[in-house]
Amino acid sequence: MYKYLLGIDTSCDDTSVGIIKVKGEESEILANIRFSQLEDCTKYGGVVPEVAARTHLDNIKKTFSIALEKSGIILSQIDYFSATVGPGLIGSLIIGSQFCKTLAYLCEKPFIPVHHMEGHMASVNKKPPFLALIISGGHSLIVKCDMNYNFEILCSTLDDSAGEVFDKIGRELKMPFPSGPFIEILSLQSKKTIKPLQILKNKLAFSFSGLKTKCLKMLEEESPEDIARFLENSIANHLIDKLEKIILLTGISEVVVCGGVSANQNIKDQLSNSFDCFFPDLSLCCDNGVMIALAARIRILNQKKLSFNIEEFSSMSLNQWTKEIC
Ligand code: KG4
Ligand code: ZN
Repeated sequence: MYKYLLGIDTSCDDTSVGIIKVKGEESEILANIRFSQLEDCTKYGGVVPEVAARTHLDNIKKTFSIALEKSGIILSQIDYFSATVGPGLIGSLIIGSQFCKTLAYLCEKPFIPVHHMEGHMASVNKKPPFLALIISGGHSLIVKCDMNYNFEILCSTLDDSAGEVFDKIGRELKMPFPSGPFIEILSLQSKKTIKPLQILKNKLAFSFSGLKTKCLKMLEEESPEDIARFLENSIANHLIDKLEKIILLTGISEVVVCGGVSANQNIKDQLSNSFDCFFPDLSLCCDNGVMIALAARIRILNQKKLSFNIEEFSSMSLNQWTKEIC
């Protein structure tokens, strides 16, 4: 018998609703609808929490209705309702999560709370154990996922995330927000290879703020396309350095690469030349509702705690989520 799962993510600036159809290990995406706040973010040079929350409120109902129509099913057919409860912008999270809880309550079906990072990892259909390299606008992490889907953070960032470097350099270059895809297009025109920056060689941690400062300084002398390529190559080098060390430490060699920056082809190529990598479909790299439904499904398949009462939270590490919540 098929089951239908709804997933909602409003953790940052995108209002996303996904619907999947599952049977045992099989799954099919029926709808993946995303309303981005591109215009607002470009106008303000980034995400403004109050504006984001208000825009989610304007968009959530229509995003859900479009997703439901696209899926070809009706509300009463949905078996499980899931939404991101954190981490993220609290005002934004509350809109998506409360909307979803209300639907679940009205339909008398379970509501499954999902950690946003759990969602990114679930965007790749990979059996554990694996290492997950989560590279997004809000996070840069290497996580160990054991056989039972318990998570442990092995490497995190001391300052900025990988995505922030793309967005801050993009802002300097007057690109729309988020700038990652525009920097990627620019870097394809680069003719000159600048030696990548060596970052924190002796520590098991990421750091991206030095790279951001270096790129900003280089704008005085180098062309934007060469800086774009240098930025990507330096990030790839830094990611590879930390992954090599962690693979040696853990003996786990399969790497799930996810989060918005995992859409970057140059970074993907360099990672897959070095490791046994698994990437999400391009449509699932950036925040989306389908990955939340996929994470909920993993929780169901692995007999994890499902419906529990938890308030939306702006920050909580995956370690705490694994130990205290799930
Ligand atoms: O996962 P995501 O949608 O949101 C967070 O959870 O943060 O990631 C968004 C980040 C942004 O910083 C954006 O610039 C970056 O992912 N990004 C990219 C690309 N597409 C999105 N970075 C590099 N190359 C891309 N093609
Ligand atoms: Zn994300």
